[in-house]
Amino acid sequence: MIYIGICVANPMRAQRDYHEPHRLQIHFSPKDHWMNDPNGMVYYKGSYHLFFQYYPGANVWGPMHWGHAASKDLLHWTELPVALYPDSLGYIFSGSAVADMNNTSGFGKKGNPPLVAIYTNHDPKGEKEGTSTFQNQSIAYSLDEGRSWKKYLDNPVLKNPGIKDFRDPKLSWYGNEKKWIMTLATFDRISFFSSRDLKNWTKESDFGKDAGAHGGVWECPDLFSFNYHGKDIWVLLVSINPGGPHGGSATQYFTGQFNGHVFTPYQTQTRWIDGGTDNYAGVTWSNTGNRKIFLGWMSNWEYAAKVPTENWRSAMTIPRELSIEELKGNFYLRSFPVKELSLISEQKTDLSPDAQKSRSLKGPLKLELDFPSLDNFSIELSNGNNEHCTIGFDTGNNSFFIDRTMSGNANFEKEFAKKISSERISQEKGCDIILIIDNSSVEFFADKGLTAMTAIFFPTEDFDTFKLNIDPKTKVGKYNSTILRSIWK
Ligand code: FRU
Repeated sequence: MIYIGICVANPMRAQRDYHEPHRLQIHFSPKDHWMNDPNGMVYYKGSYHLFFQYYPGANVWGPMHWGHAASKDLLHWTELPVALYPDSLGYIFSGSAVADMNNTSGFGKKGNPPLVAIYTNHDPKGEKEGTSTFQNQSIAYSLDEGRSWKKYLDNPVLKNPGIKDFRDPKLSWYGNEKKWIMTLATFDRISFFSSRDLKNWTKESDFGKDAGAHGGVWECPDLFSFNYHGKDIWVLLVSINPGGPHGGSATQYFTGQFNGHVFTPYQTQTRWIDGGTDNYAGVTWSNTGNRKIFLGWMSNWEYAAKVPTENWRSAMTIPRELSIEELKGNFYLRSFPVKELSLISEQKTDLSPDAQKSRSLKGPLKLELDFPSLDNFSIELSNGNNEHCTIGFDTGNNSFFIDRTMSGNANFEKEFAKKISSERISQEKGCDIILIIDNSSVEFFADKGLTAMTAIFFPTEDFDTFKLNIDPKTKVGKYNSTILRSIWK
């Protein structure tokens, strides 16, 4: 199958679409309508598949479908027909997909292993009637690279034991025991199940009732491991809504050990994968070998349905490569924009690190900065309407910040216009920074991704200027600004 870029398939569409006010130019968003969580992310036969919570009927949340897009390079996406529609068991809530290479499920044919998706069937009728068993796990399979799906006739494969929030199954292969693990969010904890065939599931254990943040319901988990200097270090991602560090949604993580049955954490205090406001329900692609590539929904349940966009609502973050780092005996996650970003990098625009000089900002940009010795700094994005968003570091509280107090249209939500801070983790003297700026988002990575912060904003006119504010005595090492080409061209 060859994917044809949207503009090649229909040159008129490219002119019409993806140029609405605030439309992200280097981030995936469906052509129209509402999107939330990334789902079913699987790499198969040279394509990254991205399914997503999708309501094709409006630009607010509704009966959930799985939308579908595919990409060869994690940046240019071709939107494909809706993959899964609601059925008699309910809406199609979040879940995951795997390439079942050994045909453990028996859904495949010789020489053609199936893609198997697992998702939560959410029955709105049961919910309305006040039952507690309206979320159940079901599976579907595809023999044509995700283009068409058949639902398993004996769905659901995992029935609800009476827990209202019982959802978002994420599959992984536990090679040591040749079995599948399903990591499931069950209200205030994570439950692990195992299976040999993806159809029959056995409960293994629970984790988390007394660990991490509990200001809201646990959702959208993911479990995977890294080989760190010869040792397997496991990571458990858990999204939580509300209860994030700045209100609303956010994703926490734990590091620890997993033995195929039980997750034993190294730490129980809360750590966030992203210290910003707008990175939720993120999980990783399956079947990517040693690479762990993460994608989140670049919004927040506090205001996702109210943001000032019209025919479309929400985009995904830039795909991020995850890695692990040990600092003083503690393991931390790093997240960093994928190297594929270089595919849309055009010329470097300005190599002089002069401070206080306004530079023009035309469309998406990547800024890279190195400070041999980190001191207060800020980078201000602004427009002629006196609106601005400022990103920087404050030595006073040792925190990075994004200030969107004056960033434009914010009256759709009381709490939107504010400054958010995230404490620096690294204790190094020097610091490297990457900023990815799109029409209505900024993604900030410091210390090779030990701190990541993501925020969206809605200026009444696109920001067209940026300025670096540093003390004249502050030394700047590397300074690059690179124009990024729209992925919709
Ligand atoms: C997370 C979430 C999931 C659920 C889905 C419904 O954002 O609430 O827990 O499966 O969205 O769209």
